[in-house]
Amino acid sequence: MIKKDMDWKNIGFQYRKTNGYVYAKCINGKWGEVQFSTDEYFPIHIAANVLHYGQACFEGMKAFTTKDGKAAIFRPNMSAKRMNRSAQRAVMEKVPEELFLKAVKEVVKKNIDYLPPYGTGSSMYIRPTLIGSGPTIGVTPSEEYTFFVLVTPVGPYYKEGFKPVQSIVIDEYDRAAPLGTGDTKLAGNYAAGILPAKKAKSLGYPIVLYLDSKEKKYVDEFGTSNFIGITKDGKFKTPKSPSILPSITNDSLQIIAKDIGIEVVKEQIAIDDLNQFAEVGACGTAAVITPIYSVKHNDKTYTFGEKEVAGETLTKLYNILEGIRYGEIEDKYNWLEFVV
Ligand SMILES: Cc1ncc(COP(=O)(O)O)c(C=O)c1O
Repeated sequence: MIKKDMDWKNIGFQYRKTNGYVYAKCINGKWGEVQFSTDEYFPIHIAANVLHYGQACFEGMKAFTTKDGKAAIFRPNMSAKRMNRSAQRAVMEKVPEELFLKAVKEVVKKNIDYLPPYGTGSSMYIRPTLIGSGPTIGVTPSEEYTFFVLVTPVGPYYKEGFKPVQSIVIDEYDRAAPLGTGDTKLAGNYAAGILPAKKAKSLGYPIVLYLDSKEKKYVDEFGTSNFIGITKDGKFKTPKSPSILPSITNDSLQIIAKDIGIEVVKEQIAIDDLNQFAEVGACGTAAVITPIYSVKHNDKTYTFGEKEVAGETLTKLYNILEGIRYGEIEDKYNWLEFVV
């Protein structure tokens, strides 16, 4: 396969135009065929629900070139299921899982020349999106939905190495209410997070940690990733909360942790009890694990491990998951879905 002529190791994390995207429409409950378009723009009704009432959800996953040269997508079936949970919460038409998988494989195939080669550390980010595209003036569900999937090649997250970052709790904003939409990937959740993320960055913290919005006592998750930690007695701990997104990376890391003999605990984690951790990480598709060196909460700062070096256990889990994604370690859980 002839690849585009790009400096693959230095493409960064940004949108880049590719050959095109795929889409399908659902009108009055009936899904049409998956189609391919080379146009980055599409016309949309001025009264489309998504533009006014925000019927929109999305997913994020990645495709990789494995060591033996195959194109593999990481756990797309989990994303299909999660998208349908999000859709249900906003009364949107569900995307049949077969249609979702067909669309995702098709868009990777059509853009195979943009799939970064093995050994560059880069990958292809896949963004399935579902929107209410029919006109609604009252706050009612749309009668038409558009499902589309775009891809864009992205560079290695840790070009300068797997380095810890500092995080802050921004107390004056909540991410999600316990009975709200925080456990789904509805687009509106992210709009609400832009301001606190901007504030944290201006204070010198790249990542925001949110507490539960009811008691302001327990750790929920980071802005776009789950909270995971290794306790001082060697357990893998992650918060139990009704308002956090079920991360596919977190699920994968838990399976790997159990497999290598680490006890996995899901329970409420009080912000005052962060001293129990030897290592803390933020986990998600983009970076797998971002090691967290410190969490600042009001006038207290909790620190974990060394400032310049990621902890041993999280590094080990990171390496195993990356190894599976690039086909360097046996995929005994059948997480890779091959495209061509
Ligand atoms: C709020 C939130 N939590 C967690 C995650 C991590 O989820 P995943 O591992 O499925 O990418 C994401 C990213 O998708 C997210 O946006």
